[in-house]
This record gives sequence, C-alpha cells and structure tokens, in this order.
Amino acid sequence: MSSATFFQIQSFLILSLMIYGVTQSKKRQKHVKIMSGAMIWDVILILQIELSRSAIDKAMEVFQSQTALKIHLFFAVSSVLLYIAMVISGLKVLKGNSGFIKKHRYLGITTLAFRILTFITSFYAASKVAL
Ligand code: HEM
Repeated sequence: MSSATFFQIQSFLILSLMIYGVTQSKKRQKHVKIMSGAMIWDVILILQIELSRSAIDKAMEVFQSQTALKIHLFFAVSSVLLYIAMVISGLKVLKGNSGFIKKHRYLGITTLAFRILTFITSFYAASKVAL
C-alpha cells in the first residue's frame, strides 16, 4: 500500500467519524468526545503527511505551480482553522450560551463541507503522485 493510500484511508475514516459525530449532536458528551477525537486524528494525519518528507517533495515537484494543489491546500488549511472556531463556539454552548448553538451549527455545516472538499481534492493529488 502506498503512503498516499494509507493517508486517504485515514482521511475517509476521520470524515466518517465526523459525520457520525454530527448525528450524535443531541447527546452532548458523546458529540464532544467524537468530534474532539476526529479533529485530533486529523491534525495527526497532517503531521504524518508533513513528516513524510518524500511525499511533500514529490507533491511539490508535480504541483508547485498548479491550481489543484493550491485548491487542496486551501480546503485543508481552512478546515483546521474552522476546527478552532468549532471548539470555541462548542465550548460557549457547553457553558450555557445557547445563542451560540445556531452559529455552531452553521459553522459545523461549513466545516464538514470544507472537510469533504479536502477529501475529494486529495484524490487529484494522489492520482498524480505515487507517494
Ligand atoms: C468539526 C467539529 C464539529 C462539528 C462539525 C460540529 C457540528 C455540530 C452540529 C451540526 C450541531 C447541531 C446543532 C443542532 O442540533 O442544532 C452541533 C451541536 C453541538 N456541538 Fe458541535 N460540532 C463540532 C465540534 C464540537 C466541539 C469541539 C464541541 C465542544 C467543545 C461541540 C459542542 C456542541 C454542543 C454543546 C452542541 C449542542 C447540542 C445540543 O443541541 O444540545 N461541538 N455541533
């Protein structure tokens, strides 16, 4: 199995876990545990990709000036930034600020959409490079 496939399997599992976690949002404790786990795993996945130097170098060779890599990186970086917003808004809801539920919900839908687009755009990268 190439490292790209290994990364993509993890990416798919993280996404599935997140979608499941959203369906559990009425069970607050369960939702928080699942979403925190998925976000931590996602950051660990990024570290794995970053630390596999050859993967980055090869991707850069092929993608450096290409729009596809930039689009993929845009969604990947935005997803992680949105995680921070999810934690902040989620904690506010937990502290009893119910006015934040709506914001958290809309941010959550956006985060999920960005994470799905990160996964989809990763296929273009992986199909071009045997990492
Ligand atoms: C990527 C991460 C996350 C996503 C996509 C997400 C998404 C959502 C969604 C869609 C809802 C449904 C709101 C509704 O039913 O109207 C929700 C509810 C909630 N989330 Fe999250 N969430 C995430 C992370 C977190 C985190 C980290 C926390 C806490 C620190 C948290 C705490 C809550 C709470 C307390 C609710 C309200 C549940 C209720 O209606 O009683 N979420 N979330």
